[in-house]
Amino acid sequence: MKPKVFITRQIPENDIKIIEKFYEVEIWNDPKAPPRDVLLEKIRDVDALVTLVTDKVNEELLENAPKLRIIAQYAVGYDNIDIDAATRRGIYVTNTPGVLTDATADLAFALLLAVARRIVEADTFVRSGEWKKSDVGWHPLMFLGYGLKGKTLGIIGFGRIGQALARRAKGFGMKIIYYSRTRKTEAEKEIGAEYVDFETLLKESDFISLHVPLTKETYHMIGERELKLMKPNAILINTSRGAVVDTNALIKALKEKWIAGAGLDVFEEEPYYNEELFKLKNVVLAPHIGSATYEAREGMAELVAKNLIAFAKGEIPPNLVNN
Ligand code: DGY
Repeated sequence: MKPKVFITRQIPENDIKIIEKFYEVEIWNDPKAPPRDVLLEKIRDVDALVTLVTDKVNEELLENAPKLRIIAQYAVGYDNIDIDAATRRGIYVTNTPGVLTDATADLAFALLLAVARRIVEADTFVRSGEWKKSDVGWHPLMFLGYGLKGKTLGIIGFGRIGQALARRAKGFGMKIIYYSRTRKTEAEKEIGAEYVDFETLLKESDFISLHVPLTKETYHMIGERELKLMKPNAILINTSRGAVVDTNALIKALKEKWIAGAGLDVFEEEPYYNEELFKLKNVVLAPHIGSATYEAREGMAELVAKNLIAFAKGEIPPNLVNN
């Protein structure tokens, strides 16, 4: 008899077909996450669960999962899963590292450029008819923004995505400084980045991009104190997790011009709505689309399949995150 897997959302079809060779598959086809009571019921009878960042896997859920042996997360981040609780029960947890690195670094850089060069503001100006109405064809002071060459990019968290962003920024002639829990001397040399302490990074960067996982230590690591240390021309980019930044402090910083702008792909609550933030022209916003390329989403599904299949064959899944 095949083991059973419940997949909490549609993932690319090809990989479902591969998983079906090894598992009895049930997929939740609604774009919204399965309601809690549905998940609690489904989990009772499955050996494997495929989760997304929006599915909360905690003690309550695991207590209802007597047969569960593997949780294959369709994401690189896994702050939605209580890893200790899973480990205590002998449940493997896997993620999808590597395959979404370029997509996420691309988006971080796209946000950085969009804020620096005021692309969304300019687009709105043209498409709303304001430009035509102004009757000013070209003006030396129209939509001035910040150039990148010679500017300092401060990267917080220097793992795969942080490093990929640094490589992109090098091509634009930027100086790279970084802060991370552990110093990455090899990458530092290869890329030409300089390790600095947290405060130095905040004080010296023209652009700051966040690439840390959400943990107890990184929760609100950018708050009022940190925003006040940044330069008034600083632009903050967040493609990691919303709760790494204290949103209220950020809105205050943007309104009172402690910093110049922000590009945000992630929010403390998702989906997100906040008129106060949306009114600000110096922000560019996206709905958590860092990994949203055809290539990355396919790669993520392939890794989910690989991890599930390894488990079904009695092997250790390759992308284990339990210690
Ligand atoms: C991740 O992988 O952690 C992203 O946030 C979703 O792709």
